Amino acid sequence: MDYIDKYPDKLGKFGEFGGMFAPEILMPALNELIEAYEKHVCDERFMNELNQILKDYSGRPTPLYFAKRYSEFIGCKVYLKREDLNHGGAHKINNVMGQALLAKKMGKTKLVAETGAGQHGFATAIAGAYFGMPTKVFMGEVDIKRQAYNVYRMQLLGTEVVPVKSGSKTLKDAVNEGLRYWISNLQDTHYLMGSVVGPHPYPLIVRDFQRIIGKEIKEQIIKLENKLPNAIIACIGGGSNAIGAFYEFIDDDAIQLIGVEAAGKGKETNKHSIALGLGRRGVLHGAMQYLLQNEYGNIIETHSISAGLDYPGVGPEHCHLKELSRLKVGEANDNETLEAFKNLSQIEGIIPALESAHALAYLEKNRKDFSTLDIVIVNLSGSGSKDLSIVAEHVDFKIKPKNLLL
Ligand SMILES: Cc1ncc(COP(=O)(O)O)c(C=O)c1O
Repeated sequence: MDYIDKYPDKLGKFGEFGGMFAPEILMPALNELIEAYEKHVCDERFMNELNQILKDYSGRPTPLYFAKRYSEFIGCKVYLKREDLNHGGAHKINNVMGQALLAKKMGKTKLVAETGAGQHGFATAIAGAYFGMPTKVFMGEVDIKRQAYNVYRMQLLGTEVVPVKSGSKTLKDAVNEGLRYWISNLQDTHYLMGSVVGPHPYPLIVRDFQRIIGKEIKEQIIKLENKLPNAIIACIGGGSNAIGAFYEFIDDDAIQLIGVEAAGKGKETNKHSIALGLGRRGVLHGAMQYLLQNEYGNIIETHSISAGLDYPGVGPEHCHLKELSRLKVGEANDNETLEAFKNLSQIEGIIPALESAHALAYLEKNRKDFSTLDIVIVNLSGSGSKDLSIVAEHVDFKIKPKNLLL
């Protein structure tokens, strides 16, 4: 496939997806961001400065860890890309430090962001403190309750967490309110988008800041195995950790790229977040994408046990890759995810984020697709420390993982 660096086009389109479906009043700010992207992000010096910060402050490169016991459990060679070991406990910091540095170069003095699981909000709070920029984070009331630990962490770093009471009181509504706030504060504030969603140039900028995951994977797996993997699996909320892990491998058709969505309580209950798998084309937050909507085009409320995947849409590049049959779309429901959460914790001593546990659950369900010598990389997008209270309500830790001799 001849894909890398071809998309988006000048209008921010990935095939028929993406674009700039934004109100007139936002266009100057988006155009300013496009200019800043072309001037700075495409400049090697900017990327060197960012990479230095990620190395010294966030702890990159993150390890690519051969999970020996989990491999025996699954039946193929499983490597985990340890994004959970980043400062802040997730991949979000890669993008956040990039955008905050860009905002500084643009002369912005304040940051505003949305958050679902709180990981992006926490990462933005870190950047706010690091760069000395006052920060506001919009968060749905439902998410504030289920991610209280991250709310406290953000506040501890001096960030103002603004509760969102509209709609389903989750991520979609937090983005709405954050963008609304930005529109009234364009002069001095940068809107720090947390995933590869939103109007152009956000899906492009966030992808480029997350590409470091796949670049490292490529170098590391060649060193460890002297060959490329058979498959890479990542969970998809908006899609930033997945595109980051996949991007360097898109042109190599032999490598399966598998994105896993949250099937929540199951398709039949209508309480899920399977936007790529079940959505129809529509516009949300400035971009054409696959979207969960009813027959009148109204957005359906989604459900996932993991706040970070609880989003009715999905990044436009993923939609395009699905359309090109380059991305395989998988799913895992809440119960399968909790089982995988427990399995990795007890087999490897690594507590994954519930979001990342969706990717593990897919692998556990589909282990027969892989043979003993196949190499499968799972992007462990974050740590589960933020999820312990949710998991404690659902999981009996005394029951050991099946098929395992402990
Ligand atoms: C640990 C973790 N993984 C994954 C996600 C999903 O986001 P994305 O699809 O942009 O990687 C989130 C979102 O909050 C997260 O916190």
